[in-house]
Amino acid sequence: MSKNVLIVSSINLDTCKQELSEGIYLEKLKEFSIKRSNEGGWHSHYKLHKIPSSIFNFLAEEILEISSHLLKEYLSNKNSPKLKMTQLWANINKKNDWNSPHNHISGKKNRSEWSGVYYLDCENTDKDNEKSIGGELIIFHSGPKGVVEKHFHTPKNGQLIIFRSNALHMVTPNNTNKDRISIAFNLYEEL
Ligand SMILES: [Fe+2]
Repeated sequence: MSKNVLIVSSINLDTCKQELSEGIYLEKLKEFSIKRSNEGGWHSHYKLHKIPSSIFNFLAEEILEISSHLLKEYLSNKNSPKLKMTQLWANINKKNDWNSPHNHISGKKNRSEWSGVYYLDCENTDKDNEKSIGGELIIFHSGPKGVVEKHFHTPKNGQLIIFRSNALHMVTPNNTNKDRISIAFNLYEEL
């Protein structure tokens, strides 16, 4: 299967939302931003899931379980794939921050690689604001006759998105004064 896919589910983590948010801002106080695709935004280190007994550790377990279930359905497998998480990181995009086009390919062979994002606080709460709030995920596909097609996804809090790690994607600028908080991850299934 070569097509980049987008799988959407949701995680009910309402009880942990506050703790996750506080954990992320605590990391932000401790660490300077890593620079990757983030244009202005803060990007944590990649090993949040390795912090013992942390809320990130808990989130990682939830993501693995849900992703395994989703991929079993998507791939029509008899068994759930055994997934490993290689990276988990947080992103805070303030006003005008965005992410330039990139993918999450690691270059490791014999792996089926998946990436994704959990939207912690990315939704529009300013319904009266006519201007787009931004912060949309755009995934690029190669369409017929060499034309690149775009798939737009508007984040909803609590959603979990999974896509192929080689999918080129970006995040449009945050047009609001509110921080856009997401947690991204990379997974693989050893083949
Ligand atoms: Fe990304």
